[in-house]
Amino acid sequence: MQEIPIPGDPTWGGGLPQETGAENAGGARKNNDCTLSETFSSIFNKCDMNYINLFSMSESTQSPAGAPSPAAGAGGNEQPMIRMKNVQKYFDDFQALTDINLEVPRGQVVVVLGPSGSGKSTLCRTINRLETIEDGTIEIDGKLLPEEGKELAKLRADVGMVFQSFNLFPHLKIRDNVTLGPIKVRNKKKKEAVDRAMQLLERVGIANQADKYPAQLSGGQQQRVAIARALAMDPKVMLFDEPTSALDPEMVNEVLEVMANLAKSGMTMLVVSHEMGFARKVADRVLFMADGQIVEDAPPEEFFSNPKSDRAKDFLGKILAH
Ligand SMILES: Nc1ncnc2c1ncn2[C@@H]1O[C@H](COP(=O)(O)OP(=O)(O)OP(=O)(O)O)[C@@H](O)[C@H]1O
Ligand SMILES: [Mg+2]
Repeated sequence: MQEIPIPGDPTWGGGLPQETGAENAGGARKNNDCTLSETFSSIFNKCDMNYINLFSMSESTQSPAGAPSPAAGAGGNEQPMIRMKNVQKYFDDFQALTDINLEVPRGQVVVVLGPSGSGKSTLCRTINRLETIEDGTIEIDGKLLPEEGKELAKLRADVGMVFQSFNLFPHLKIRDNVTLGPIKVRNKKKKEAVDRAMQLLERVGIANQADKYPAQLSGGQQQRVAIARALAMDPKVMLFDEPTSALDPEMVNEVLEVMANLAKSGMTMLVVSHEMGFARKVADRVLFMADGQIVEDAPPEEFFSNPKSDRAKDFLGKILAH
């Protein structure tokens, strides 16, 4: 039977406590236990209640998702929203991230570029601890990413993630996909969650699809639902890992437009994407990665017009040739 993503699944993206398959070996819930035939509530009872209970203690105190933050842009002397210091990540003997130092101020939009295997997804995944790190520190909004437990669950709720594959719950209507996390995890009242879901669906341009099931939507529409679902958790940061690369070309723009609007609204965003137009127009900053390192870090116009490293020149040459 087909497995479905559930809150807590690394592919769910709703800002919930998530574990990778490898980390699940340490006693976290097993996704394999969940099948399509199970009801909504039994899925939760069976797979996620422990996590949800942990999570329900974390009430968001921040402004609604996407609301302009006081220090949006630059200038404030506040903590950066994301701060990585000397981060090292290994997969066995292979070093996937080497000495990552990165500060992303509140409200900044960072696009991450780089060849396949350069560590872009790993970078994203360490930020909400889908991947553990071997050395260094990561802070979200001034708080160190805790190793585990309730504190980690709290911090993870602040980091929404959207993946290449949208991973909506296939057996739930669009509206219910968006209300699920807020009701089960944030303890929101149903009416409040539904009102908010409808606002968010409106914002991503698909409120009229609320009563449909994911399979009845196009890929672009599904990805917009995935974005609305992540926003429904009121995250402080949104991470996007190649959100348009699984889409048919004619659907790419509708998703990029939603992301551009989110950026305008002041959301702090880290976006892995090879959409150069988006990087040029929307990003405040481009990071170029190669071999697990940040090789260049520059405003888009500078990066695209004057890449400094041979790796970046070579990469841009290949990408722009298409
Ligand atoms: N779970 C894992 N186990 C072992 N190695 C891994 C694992 N995940 C990633 N890697 C390795 O770490 C390196 C970085 O992978 P990552 O997925 O971060 O690259 P990427 O830049 O996102 O690539 P792509 O553009 O193809 O998505 C690669 O060499 C990859 O093979
Ligand atoms: Mg990747």
